[in-house]
Amino acid sequence: MRACRREAAPYTPIWLMRQAGRYMREYREVREKTTFLDLCKNPALAAEVTVTAVEKLAVDAAIIFADILLILEPLGIDLEFAKGEGPVIHNPVRKPADVERLHELEDANALHFVYEAITQTRSALKPDIPLIGFCGAPFTLASYMTEGGGSKNYVHTKRLMYDDAGAWHAMMALISRALVKYLNAQIAAGAQAVQLFDSWVGCLSPDDYREFVLPHTTSVIRGVTAGVPVMHFGTGTAALLELMREAGGDVIGLDWRVRLDEGWERVGHDVAVMGNLDPVVLFAKQDVLQAQAKKILDQADGRAGHIFNLGHGILPETPVENVIALVEMVHEFSHRLHG
Ligand code: CP3
Repeated sequence: MRACRREAAPYTPIWLMRQAGRYMREYREVREKTTFLDLCKNPALAAEVTVTAVEKLAVDAAIIFADILLILEPLGIDLEFAKGEGPVIHNPVRKPADVERLHELEDANALHFVYEAITQTRSALKPDIPLIGFCGAPFTLASYMTEGGGSKNYVHTKRLMYDDAGAWHAMMALISRALVKYLNAQIAAGAQAVQLFDSWVGCLSPDDYREFVLPHTTSVIRGVTAGVPVMHFGTGTAALLELMREAGGDVIGLDWRVRLDEGWERVGHDVAVMGNLDPVVLFAKQDVLQAQAKKILDQADGRAGHIFNLGHGILPETPVENVIALVEMVHEFSHRLHG
């Protein structure tokens, strides 16, 4: 929490995107007995999975176990997590008439299970471990809604954006209004900071980001309960960093395609940054991992406001012992730097 506010901390805090996931035996054991969506909708199990990851890794923050796509269901999207395929949307939004069929999120309680999971997790966590709530950013959610799943070239998304700008903005505004309610309900339930995942926004040109995305992301960030730090994350965003900063956030996520010192310089030292180890480095030998982690800490240069993280989520085949070792290394090296 201090790093979010750019206050001095005794060491560099670290947490990892997707820290609770399939690379971890304890997670796989829980998942064997339930589907992914049922797990997300079971507050006791979601809390268990969240807390187990924090304790096993000794990271400095928890992120609530949920998914960015859960909010699509109350908006009228038919969502499925197909085995081995990732998310599938059976009624994608491709035309202006599809946008008109979307539901306004009138009652944020449609996602009550997320808030219950947050409350249970908060009371199960040690008091000094902050709990992060999250949502997908408007563009990344819109891309899933239009593509119907993951995508390589975002043809459906961009076609709607270019050909039907009115429908595009109406859809982005509807998503954004829902996200503000959703994040604030997570905060009311006990989330102490929130993160926007704009995982796929790096597919856009800077001009298109400014026109089609920035106003909506800005409206979400501005709508978040005052005083709660917002982390604004994307990947492939080396060309968009200044614009993401303009859109808002107390902490800007950097991926590994940009050096941390350059990225921080570009977003400005008056915001905090998070990142930026390549998740695949976790597959390397530990001396390589150590050298790469050190390089990032050297680039942060002991400046207040660096949260160590990966540049994207942990991959399913990652050796868990390397993740534990990374957390230890970051704590040890940064303790020396700060101390
Ligand atoms: O970080 C955490 O530990 C908290 C939980 C979390 C999950 N998804 C659990 C999950 C978070 C923060 C997310 C965010 C999320 N979900 C993002 C943004 C982050 C990113 O990776 O860019 C995105 C794009 C999604 C959508 C999503 N969910 C996809 C594309 C997939 C399938 C691909 C895959 O990795 O399997 C999911 C499923 C998912 N979300 C899993 C987990 C643990 C795996 C599901 C399983 O157990 O089978």
